[in-house]
Amino acid sequence: MPDYKLVIEGGRELRGETFVSGGKNTSLAVVPATLLAEGPCLIENLPDIEDIRVLMQILRHLGAGVTWQAQQNQMQVDPCQVSGDTVPFRLSQRMRASYYLMGALLGRYGYARVGYPGGCNLGSRPIDQHLKGFRALGASIREEAGMIVLEGKLKGANINFDMVTVGGTINVMLAACRAEGDSVLTNCAREPHIVDTANFLNRIGAHIRGAGTDTIRIRGVNKLRGASYTVIPDQIETGTLMIAAAATRGQVTLRGCIPTHMEALTAKLLEMGVLVTSQDDIINVQLRQGHRAIRLSTQEYPGFPTDLQQPMSALLTRAVGTSEVIENIFDARFKHLDEMRKMGAKSVINGKIAYIEGVPELHGAPVYAPDLRGGAALVIAGLMANGITEIYRADTIARGYEHLESKLNALGALIRREKISNGNGNADGF
Ligand code: EPU
Repeated sequence: MPDYKLVIEGGRELRGETFVSGGKNTSLAVVPATLLAEGPCLIENLPDIEDIRVLMQILRHLGAGVTWQAQQNQMQVDPCQVSGDTVPFRLSQRMRASYYLMGALLGRYGYARVGYPGGCNLGSRPIDQHLKGFRALGASIREEAGMIVLEGKLKGANINFDMVTVGGTINVMLAACRAEGDSVLTNCAREPHIVDTANFLNRIGAHIRGAGTDTIRIRGVNKLRGASYTVIPDQIETGTLMIAAAATRGQVTLRGCIPTHMEALTAKLLEMGVLVTSQDDIINVQLRQGHRAIRLSTQEYPGFPTDLQQPMSALLTRAVGTSEVIENIFDARFKHLDEMRKMGAKSVINGKIAYIEGVPELHGAPVYAPDLRGGAALVIAGLMANGITEIYRADTIARGYEHLESKLNALGALIRREKISNGNGNADGF
């Protein structure tokens, strides 16, 4: 991907309609899950994002037959041709979700060698709960030259997670659905993409009950078949666009979303004075005047998602009053606030609490995207700001949002990509 920055001419209202793309985090679980099948799978509504392209490279590296039609947002995976069992570090470190190759390969072949995952730097992100689950299912786990080697014939087990983990719940579910016998997973995460991944696995013949509650029961089966499946819309993209609409005091209609997944955000927007209405798969967002400060605390689903904390805190920089934002899931997810200070935002960070004092206006400035959702937050800040905002390291945003600039531009934003001349992705001084 060439190095580029996003240049935003701020101060324009967003108006009109747009569609929400397929879910990033659900796609990044469902696509590796196809390796558990013994026939080709067609996955539809996948977002055309960088993380999906990296995943495709990983599947091809393993020998799977992969056809990716970006225009149609669909991928055909033929797992019958898989000949490898190793995901090298150069590929695994390019994304967080590479950890799902552990559960999928271990479940299918009883052996996997996978490099440590990468992804956004949000503080410490251990995978001990994934490994604990695999061990409980009977896998032996060792490290060889920085690679995690997992091996063993899996047997059903009862596993209680020490904390609620999205990745851990999905990964152990992947491995357990081809284990011999029954597994009961407790203290599970309940995010919509856990339900979606379980629905896909059940479609290909798995026997999983309870996904979406804190207890998931899995009856192991010895064969899974190929099938086609359409992933759910992206909860976080929906939320990001809702917040962007409010931030520009615009009026936007989002189509193809699931309003019930958005209840925590909707409640907070209403509390701030934003008008949000929904019907079927449509959400309308409108803000006419100023909005109020709030208190916000991130939680596992159905609480307020950590992934929307960053876009939401961009909106809070211009609220009337001082907001308190508590980040309970990750210990380093406030870096975007440091960048927004360059744009005139006022905030103080004390451990896991950020106090954001609303200001009447932001001004454009050169900033850099510290991570995916932090980058989206800066886009929102840039839309609100007077003047020009330049976002460096903007490729991190394309890892997880499908065509974000074009969608926003179609709603009236003015955002363009500009190549960075020094070619190293950094502005002078960063
Ligand atoms: N944790 C552990 N041990 C584990 C697993 C997690 O201590 O074995 C801790 C983490 O350090 C964190 C908390 O538990 O403090 C929750 O982590 P979780 O496992 O739920 O997160 P994740 O699987 O690493 C996924 C998403 C994130 C999203 C979180 C929380 C993917 C690929 N990533 O990460 O998405 O923020 O769940 O909902 O699904 C993003 O899309 O921008 C993103 C970061």
